[in-house]
Amino acid sequence: MDANAVKADLVLILDFGSQYTHLITRRIRSLSIFSLCISGTSKLSDITSHNPRVVILSGGPHSVHTPDSPSFPPGFPEWAEANGVVVLGICYGLQLIVQKLGGEVRVGEKQEYGRMEIEVEKSAALYGSKRVGDRQLVWMSHGDEVARLPDGFEVVARSQQGAVAAVENRVKRFYGLQYHPEVTHSPEGMETLRYFLFEVCGINAGWKMENVMDEEIKVIKGTVGPEDHVICALSGGVDSTVAATLVHKAIGDRLHCIFVDNGLLRYKERERVMETFESDLHLPVTCVDATDQFLGKLKGVVDPETKRKIIGKEFISIFDDFAQELEQKLGKRPSYLVQGTLYPDVIESCPPPGSGRTHSHTIKSHHNVGGLPKDMKLKLIEPLKLLFKDEVRQLGRILNVPEPFLKRHPFPGPGLAVRVLGDVTQGNALDILRQVDEIFIQSIKDAGLYDSIWQAFAVFLPVRSVGVQGDQRTHSHVVALRAVTSQDGMTADWYYFEHKFLDDVSRKICNSVRGVNRVVQDITSKPPSTIEWE
Ligand code: XMP
Repeated sequence: MDANAVKADLVLILDFGSQYTHLITRRIRSLSIFSLCISGTSKLSDITSHNPRVVILSGGPHSVHTPDSPSFPPGFPEWAEANGVVVLGICYGLQLIVQKLGGEVRVGEKQEYGRMEIEVEKSAALYGSKRVGDRQLVWMSHGDEVARLPDGFEVVARSQQGAVAAVENRVKRFYGLQYHPEVTHSPEGMETLRYFLFEVCGINAGWKMENVMDEEIKVIKGTVGPEDHVICALSGGVDSTVAATLVHKAIGDRLHCIFVDNGLLRYKERERVMETFESDLHLPVTCVDATDQFLGKLKGVVDPETKRKIIGKEFISIFDDFAQELEQKLGKRPSYLVQGTLYPDVIESCPPPGSGRTHSHTIKSHHNVGGLPKDMKLKLIEPLKLLFKDEVRQLGRILNVPEPFLKRHPFPGPGLAVRVLGDVTQGNALDILRQVDEIFIQSIKDAGLYDSIWQAFAVFLPVRSVGVQGDQRTHSHVVALRAVTSQDGMTADWYYFEHKFLDDVSRKICNSVRGVNRVVQDITSKPPSTIEWE
């Protein structure tokens, strides 16, 4: 979407690396306020070019005393004050304000981590109707603390231990919270943010998904020329489907979608996905059966990284062929490629100290199928690049993408290749896995558990174990079941099924899938594991 449209009331977040930074953005968006997050060390011109009404300085794992600890650019406080931009520092952000404006931050005598009680000490703009002496629980996570405030600042709340918990300078319109109002462990934090943004800053709520959609369609129409053609590779997942549906709404049948059956899809996946594309979404999709091409290249390949690379390369070569075919048909080469990149993939964040990384784009490269070739001639359209996953689902709903489709568990680009350990072409591993996976997923759906699980799937292990089936000894395969809960896939915990459920599933699998005589469950979280196995 065009940030210009809603930028009049933009809340800009400067990211200093806190694990909660994205949460601040999301919380603010949930108040129908447009919010963007950029690196905390952005240049002043980058910050001012966004023309924000409010700037929030996030928390972070640093200490202001460490050499090279990240900070806002020189001139930022002066610019904010001169332009009436309200500034709120959270945790490290507050300490930065204090230190840079002439106060003092010291290593706290008692570090404060976790749930704490704070008490309002002065009637304050930040706390609105709260009275002196009112207490609330908040989530603290800091080692340093404020020792002396810069001129013009007042303490408005303290922790039980006497540490500064909230400060304000009403004249400069600078505010600070030592705790994290954005996390649910601060039960009144959301109300504080709401009050701060609406009452103290006077922000208008205007961020609606319908507006986002209209804006985005306008931008796409303005970008893609009237004669231009666009291609989009659909994976069958939420992001590419919503991106394609949006672009289709903007430019109609000058969008050409391709869905590749790489032989690594789940049970009846191609039929099911194509049916949704055609009947529900009326998207023009070319389905390419490239099973032989992919499996041919994967024969005998055992190394997971090599498998992923091969798959990525094949995808690109198929997209290329598709573009060429279109050129012959249309007499014009397509000029754009639609990608379903999401906001978390592009947010610049501040890596933890000692990680050896500098501020950079944190892109999960292995999750972007194979990466795009450097000499790619197609220009990119990424209509979802300012949205979070739940916002993409919301947009999908407005675009009439069927609900079950929006709620599908994520499925990796390399498909079952990362779920068959070792050579994916060994025996009938893929077939076995498809059947096992279908039983597992269907049982989860029948038990009404699908929406409480973030991702569930089966894994084929390249080992055989002995068993006894129908009075005969067998030497058959072991399959593993994996189900996880997660927020965003970055960390995950394994899902606790009832024993009865596991017992039923295991029986069903062994009784109906030939070649399997043992079922195990993966009971590791991420970390130390990952969600997929390869
Ligand atoms: P891991 O296994 O890294 O996975 O914990 C986190 C999430 O990402 C998905 N995943 C992928 N998605 N291409 C994708 O499109 C990939 O190569 C890929 N690898 C993992 C995984 O299914 C989980 O949702």
